[in-house]
Amino acid sequence: MKKINIGLMLILSLGALSAHADVTNAEKLAKKYEGIAKAINPKYAGESPSDGKVFFNNLIKVNGKDVACASCHTDNPANTGKHMVTGKPIRPLAPSVNAKRFTDIDKVEENFSKHCNDIIARECTAEEKANFIAYLITVKK
Ligand code: HEC
Repeated sequence: MKKINIGLMLILSLGALSAHADVTNAEKLAKKYEGIAKAINPKYAGESPSDGKVFFNNLIKVNGKDVACASCHTDNPANTGKHMVTGKPIRPLAPSVNAKRFTDIDKVEENFSKHCNDIIARECTAEEKANFIAYLITVKK
């Protein structure tokens, strides 16, 4: 846990990413998480879109209900999501259709922290974040 916090500090200290929003920002951010993940676990082979996809769809029991990231972001992250509690629409997560995604590190960290704790009851690791973003980058409408 301590190591992960150091990684988090590292990434936060890198500051806000460029305001130019496109897939490049998501790629850069995935690379940063990958670098941190490798520093923590030298055996980590690097970004894995397929592991990210599994993570995104992985159902976990929360209060007796099976939920996943896909429960709100839908099984296609290039589509508009729907909040499973409020029913409110959520703009697509895939940077190919929503260029604003993964451009604001503070927002990304805040959302990861909130949703990871909601669903898997802990922070996501740098490895999980790298794989998650790598998967989203591969998703086209
Ligand atoms: C209960 C509904 C819900 C679930 C489940 C959920 N999310 Fe989200 N997610 C949201 C909402 C709402 C937003 C913010 C809306 C927006 O920015 O348009 C969001 C935004 C995000 C963002 C912000 C990306 C950016 O750059 O703007 C990330 C990252 C994210 N979610 C990751 C996850 C992960 C990882 C999981 C599974 C562990 C998950 N979410 C599960 C509702 C959910």
